[in-house]
Amino acid sequence: MNRHQELGQSEQEQEEVTGLVCQEDDLKDGQMKEVTVGDQNVLLVRTHGQYSAIGNKCSHYNAPLVKGALVGDRVRCPFHGACFNVRTGDIEEYPGLDCLPSYKVKVEDGKVYVSINKKTIMLTKRVKEMCSLAPDIKHTILLIGGGPASLVCAETLRQNCYQGRIIMVTKDTLPPFDKPKLSKAMNLDSSSILLRSSDFYQQYGIEVWTQKEVVSVNSANKAVMLNDGILQRYNQLLISTGCRARPLSCPGCDLQGVKLLQSYEDAREIHNSCLGQKAVIIGASFIGMEVASFLSDKAASVAMVGSTRYPFERSLGPEIGKMTMQMLEEQNVKFYMDDRVTGDKRREREGEGGGADQWYSPGS
Ligand SMILES: Cc1cc2nc3c(=O)[nH]c(=O)nc-3n(C[C@H](O)[C@H](O)[C@H](O)COP(=O)(O)OP(=O)(O)OC[C@H]3O[C@@H](n4cnc5c(N)ncnc54)[C@H](O)[C@@H]3O)c2cc1C
Ligand code: FES
Repeated sequence: MNRHQELGQSEQEQEEVTGLVCQEDDLKDGQMKEVTVGDQNVLLVRTHGQYSAIGNKCSHYNAPLVKGALVGDRVRCPFHGACFNVRTGDIEEYPGLDCLPSYKVKVEDGKVYVSINKKTIMLTKRVKEMCSLAPDIKHTILLIGGGPASLVCAETLRQNCYQGRIIMVTKDTLPPFDKPKLSKAMNLDSSSILLRSSDFYQQYGIEVWTQKEVVSVNSANKAVMLNDGILQRYNQLLISTGCRARPLSCPGCDLQGVKLLQSYEDAREIHNSCLGQKAVIIGASFIGMEVASFLSDKAASVAMVGSTRYPFERSLGPEIGKMTMQMLEEQNVKFYMDDRVTGDKRREREGEGGGADQWYSPGS
């Protein structure tokens, strides 16, 4: 190493904070450990005889990855299953959009050191490198739908140097947002559930057209018609319109107070109309159970109707179903299982002092 290189190296070392985190033989292949360097929470991993280090907090909702599963070079988040490459910190499976920081690891004299650049020590996530729009490129990719599928497609295009026009059309009132949150906290402010800020879309040249519905697609002419009469041409089209909640089809399903949970507005409306009222939830799977839990201390009463013996029975089996049912029973949720709704009898029962004020179907 010449003097110039030595100087460069020592300058670099001054910009870093380095911590001795363990002895080389503390971890075996396939093991992970949470360590702290500076104030940063770091996941130290040993695979194929080599150490690597990345941020320990999942970029989705900060779950501790050390409690996740390590398979090969990937760690899977214990909360919702996002996967990260332990060597690069890159995100490899969703939910979660951002990568994690990766840190320098050195093994010397049987000791393992992790170094973090002081300038980036506070960063717990990073956006993959992306290009932006080149105005002279006239090629257009149109994405129908404003859910995560469209958003990830737009970002992947920019990550792969696509510089044409990207238009995302959604009939939602919001740009892509975290839909799963709607059943877990129904009264959230819209700004707290957006997946990306408006600055992000601007920076990477991604157009998001909200409150516009595509009413027809003409693939021969490569054009779509929007509900406001606008005809938009495209070179390539992605249809990622997601799925819908299944509505009830029994008598009374169109009465006031019977609602489906699909949009941000639905969640707010259900929350507001259930406060201090009797709520009935039809569908005892994930979304229904989450809503029951959320409403249990807000509604006057919560009843749950499910067609299996226990909640989640088809997906998670009877043991877990029974356990979660007991947990919600302790929160005063009343279960009507192995049953189904055949109609809304409120009008008949009102005279008897019975009946629900709000019926809600998550469509499961
Ligand atoms: C209340 C709730 C809770 C959930 N919780 C979880 C969870 O905890 N974990 C989990 O993994 N999944 C959960 N999900 C499911 C998850 O939200 C979906 O799997 C995910 O959103 C699917 O993404 P997507 O982009 O394919 O479609 P969506 O997110 O459904 O997006 C479809 C988009 O298409 C738009 N669209 C449809 N038709 C048109 C049209 N003609 N013109 C223009 N736009 C149109 C819609 O407005 C919407 O923006 C939940 C869903 C709901 C409703
Ligand atoms: S917190 Fe990790 S996937 Fe949601």
